[in-house]
Amino acid sequence: MTSTLFHNIGQLVTNDPEHDGTKLGLIENAALLVEDGVIAWAGPDSDAPTHHIKKKIDAQGKAVIPGFVDSHTHLIFAGDRSQEFRARMLGESYTAGGIAHTVEKTRAASNQLLTSIAQGLFNEALQSGTTTIEIKSGYGLTVVDEARSLEIAQALSDETTFLGAHVVPVEYKKNPKDYVDLICGPMLDAALPFSKWIDVFCDKGAFSVDDARTILKAGMAKGLLPRLHANQLQEGHGVRLGVELGVASVDHVSHLSEKDIEALSASTTVATLLPGAEFSTRSPYPDVRPLLEASITVAIASDCNPGSSYTTSMPFIIAIAVREMHFSPEQALWAATRGGAKALCRDDIGHLVEGARADFCLLSSDSYIHLAYRPGVNLVEQVWRDGLHIK
Ligand code: NIG
Ligand code: FE
Repeated sequence: MTSTLFHNIGQLVTNDPEHDGTKLGLIENAALLVEDGVIAWAGPDSDAPTHHIKKKIDAQGKAVIPGFVDSHTHLIFAGDRSQEFRARMLGESYTAGGIAHTVEKTRAASNQLLTSIAQGLFNEALQSGTTTIEIKSGYGLTVVDEARSLEIAQALSDETTFLGAHVVPVEYKKNPKDYVDLICGPMLDAALPFSKWIDVFCDKGAFSVDDARTILKAGMAKGLLPRLHANQLQEGHGVRLGVELGVASVDHVSHLSEKDIEALSASTTVATLLPGAEFSTRSPYPDVRPLLEASITVAIASDCNPGSSYTTSMPFIIAIAVREMHFSPEQALWAATRGGAKALCRDDIGHLVEGARADFCLLSSDSYIHLAYRPGVNLVEQVWRDGLHIK
């Protein structure tokens, strides 16, 4: 058995309310015991176990937080859309239409190229503290290209999502119903071996609520778990569809009515906000306060994709969530760790409790508040995943 004691931790964020009665479960002057890749104990340094410790690591008074759980990314693509971004910054507005450009580049790319781009982004995310990452397909939009996208994603993460219903590809624009049939039939079958989740972009310029229901139900019937892009570009029935189907998470949710909030509040569905998308599309930021006041579980994620949010940095997402969406620093950190885990229905990650995976980050500062207070600076000094030192 390997056992490592991290001691002299100035501030330990456990996300275990047992410690201090708050959601972050803070312990000042703490220690953390890791055995065989899982958390064996967390508590005050003065109570730290002394027996059978093989190795001791001095955290030098710095903060330790759970690794980030990025529950929403689109890492499988080729090409970039910097010109589209530039045009937006000069006044154009964002539409789902730009996705077609990435689809063209992705279809033309070799497996080797797609793998190296995704692996590069995955490594980049690790460097800023992401220890679990969900990865969607959605830039292939043919049976073969969706299946290979998901196979590449699965080599990087267990949290893979079939998003054949991202947009209707150009060749089906005249008969979109045929594309829905393709998704629910051969494309779903080809995606199944490589997917855990099924998702639909249900919005203006993408799929209707009825099509989204048909597609999610087809995936669920074959054993995939549902999640949904909803209410990103306008208000609509997407969120309520998500609640009706019991999806794990509705994502974006930038335009919510009172009815949507009521529906979410009475459900177990997580609301995942994606601040990078508002940043990069220069759209109004939603306010998290009505969601939190209604006791809705909130996650934040990067939405890393080449169109609407080309960042892998969860600390950057935390900084925008705090500055622009009225999260407190503690709410944002919880949403980026435990909230992400809830959005993926995972109880083994996102918190540092006995038996959880030893996924955590040592910061170069003595407080998690610095994640929002020092935007654009990578404060993640060390990353440990499954108890292994990977940065
Ligand atoms: O999550 N909303 C749909 N899909 C992506 C955008 C994809 C793109 O613009 O390439 C998103 O923001
Ligand atoms: Fe997305």
